[in-house]
Amino acid sequence: MKLFAFFNNLGLKIKLLLMMLALSITSISLLFVIYNVAEKRLILEVKRYTEELTSAIQISVEQLTTEDKEENEDTLKEYVGRLKKKGIHEISILNNEMEIIASSNPKRIGRVVDAKSGKVKNLEGSQDYTTQLEGQRNYNLMLPVTVGDEQLGYIHIAMKFDDFADFLRSNNYKRLIATSIVFAVGIIFAIFLSNKYVMPINKLAKATQRIAAGDLKEIGEVKGSDEIGELTRNFNEMVKGLRENRMLEEKLSKTEHLSQIGQLASGIAHEIRNPLNFINLGIDHLKSEYGLEDREKRKEFESIIVSIKAEIHRLNSMINNFLEYGRPITLKVEKVFIGDIIKEVIKLAEYKAHEQKIELKVNLAEYIPPMSIDKQQIKACLMNIILNAIQAMPDGGEISVNAVSDNSSVVIRIEDNGGGIAKEDMEKIFEPYFTTKIAGIGLGLAITKRIIEEHNGMITIESRIGQGTAVAMEIPTAQGV
Ligand SMILES: Nc1ncnc2c1ncn2[C@@H]1O[C@H](COP(=O)(O)OP(=O)(O)OP(=O)(O)O)[C@@H](O)[C@H]1O
Ligand SMILES: [Mg+2]
Repeated sequence: MKLFAFFNNLGLKIKLLLMMLALSITSISLLFVIYNVAEKRLILEVKRYTEELTSAIQISVEQLTTEDKEENEDTLKEYVGRLKKKGIHEISILNNEMEIIASSNPKRIGRVVDAKSGKVKNLEGSQDYTTQLEGQRNYNLMLPVTVGDEQLGYIHIAMKFDDFADFLRSNNYKRLIATSIVFAVGIIFAIFLSNKYVMPINKLAKATQRIAAGDLKEIGEVKGSDEIGELTRNFNEMVKGLRENRMLEEKLSKTEHLSQIGQLASGIAHEIRNPLNFINLGIDHLKSEYGLEDREKRKEFESIIVSIKAEIHRLNSMINNFLEYGRPITLKVEKVFIGDIIKEVIKLAEYKAHEQKIELKVNLAEYIPPMSIDKQQIKACLMNIILNAIQAMPDGGEISVNAVSDNSSVVIRIEDNGGGIAKEDMEKIFEPYFTTKIAGIGLGLAITKRIIEEHNGMITIESRIGQGTAVAMEIPTAQGV
C-alpha cells in the first residue's frame, strides 16, 4: 500500500522510466533464467549421453577383442536401446573388411559397408558424414579401433539430429512465450498508466469547456502529487478564484443597481409623499367640515372617506418601503402593546377586506407583555403581510391573525386561504423587487424581513399552492443592546 502511494506520488517521467526499467529487467532476468535452466539440462543430457556412449564404445571394443561375442552383443543392444532415446539410432561393429560383425540392428549383421559410396572416403582415422533415413537427418560416425599398432576394425555410430533440434525448438518456444508474457504485462501496465493519465486530462478538457460556457464548478479531488494531481489542484483553485470573482461582480452590480433604483425611487417618493399628505389632510377637513345631513348619505360618505384614507395609507406605505429599502434601518424603540398595533392595522385593512368579501379574524392570547419595538416599522410589516393576504384572495376568503407569547417573545401568525405561493417562487419572495403582481413592486416582504431581523426576530413563510399561506413572525419582547 505504501509502495503504491509512493509510486503514485512520483512524477510522470520517473514513472515511465521505472516502468521501462522494470520491463527490461524482468525480460532479461527471465531469458537469463530460461537460458541457465536449458544450459544445465543440456549439460546433464550431454553428460549422460557421453557416459552411455562411452560404455557402448567400450563394449564394442571388447566385442572386437574378446571371444565371448554373444554376451557382449546383448549388453550392446541394451545400451543402444537406452541411447536410442537420446538420439543414437544404431551402433555397428565392423571388421577391417568393412563387414558388419555385430550391430544393435541385427538385420545389418553380415552386410558390407560400401567404402566406395563416397560416404566413407578412406579408412584411416575417424570419419563423419550425414545421411537421410526415414525422412530424418542422420549423423554418422565411423571410428577405427586400434590396439597398439594393430587395427581391429571400426565402430559405426548413427545418430539422429532431430532430437536435439526438438530440444532447441522447445527452448526457443519457451523464450518466445516468456518474452511475449513480459510484453503483454508491459502493454497492460502501459494501458493502465495511460488511462490513469488520459482520464483526468479528458476530465480537465471537459471542465475547461464547461467553464468557458459559464459553469464554474470544480472537478473531483485527484490524489497523488504528480503532475496531473498538481494540475487538477491548480485548476480547482483557479475555478474557485473565478467563482469568487463572479460572486463579487454580481454583488457589486446588484448593489449598484439597487442604489440607482434607490436614488431614483427616493426622488420620486418625496415628490409623491407631499401631495399625498395634503390629500390626507384635505379629506380629514372634508369629513369634519362638510358632513352631510342625511344619515344614510353620511354613512356612505364616511365609508368612502375611510376607503380613500386606506388607499392613501397603502400608497404611503409603498413609498415608505421605497424610501426605506437601501437605507440602513434605525429603530425608534418604544414600549407598546402589540395587540393595539394589530387592531390599528386591521382597521386600516377592513374596508378593502370587506370589499373583497374577506373575513378578518383576530385571536390574541390573554396576556401578551408590552414590547420594546419600533411601532411604525412593525405596523408597516403587519400591513405588508395583511395586504399580501388580501391580494392573494380576490374572490374572498378568510384571514386569521393570531398572537401568542411566552415572556421573552411574541409570535404573530397571519394565515390566509388564498392562491398560495408556487414552490419555485418560495426562495425568491424575500428578494427585493421580486413580484408576481401586475401592480406590485416586490419590496413588501424584503423590507418586512429586514425590519424583523433588525428587531432580532425571525420571519417564516409556509405555503401550499391552492390552499393558502401562513406567515409567522417571532419578535423578542425586549431589544438587546
Ligand atoms: N399571502 C400570500 N399569498 C400568495 N402569494 C404571496 C403572499 N405573500 C407574498 N406572496 C408572493 O410573494 C411575492 C412578493 O411579495 P412582496 O410583498 O414582497 O411583494 P409584492 O406584494 O408583489 O409587492 P409589494 O412591494 O407591493 O408588496 C408576491 O408577489 C407574491 O407572489
Ligand atoms: Mg406585498
